[in-house]
Amino acid sequence: MFSYIKRIQTTGTVISTSSSTIQKMLSYIDFEHTKTILELGAGKGAVTQQLTQHLHLEANLYVFELLPEFAKNLKNKYQSYKNVHIIHDSAEKITHYVPNTTIDACVSVLPLSIMNKNVVHTILYTLAEQLSPNGVFIQLQYTRRLENLFKNYFHIAKKDFHFWNIPPAHLYLLRRK
Ligand SMILES: C[S@@+](CC[C@H](N)C(=O)[O-])C[C@H]1O[C@@H](n2cnc3c(N)ncnc32)[C@H](O)[C@@H]1O
Repeated sequence: MFSYIKRIQTTGTVISTSSSTIQKMLSYIDFEHTKTILELGAGKGAVTQQLTQHLHLEANLYVFELLPEFAKNLKNKYQSYKNVHIIHDSAEKITHYVPNTTIDACVSVLPLSIMNKNVVHTILYTLAEQLSPNGVFIQLQYTRRLENLFKNYFHIAKKDFHFWNIPPAHLYLLRRK
């Protein structure tokens, strides 16, 4: 029971993001010109699966997942993909794993509102520093609580409310300030 509660605290939800919500998130990415993509908080890989279908041949996808069993499954599934890098570690360590380059797109379903505040600040600061001038950071949230925090680091280019998700989700398209 304790481990189940602990797991919910890490994952934020037990239900994967819906296919239509993921399609909406990925519609903000220009895959033709996107060479470095990050996915933060991959879980069972619902977003990863759709990302790999659109990935440019020369692009690299870096996927961060903290829970060992999710990371292990993803590593097995994508072991033959040379440009998909599954990283079993916290998303705050982006700079440890992603080569010294700018990030063209980042898709995140991290449960930021229940995560450690220092970890969240490190992630947002790193992305704000590393995002390329035309780069996009797409974050899904279940509440609007972190909107002011996002504004400290990014320009909110677009906000969408997606009803076709359980629970319904707020999608943020964030760009460099
Ligand atoms: C809400 S789930 C999203 C799963 C999947 N991307 C989806 O959309 O269905 C959030 C995921 O983030 C992972 N996570 C939580 N904190 C993390 C961190 N600091 N770094 C990397 N992943 C983390 C959890 O283990 C969980 O799998």
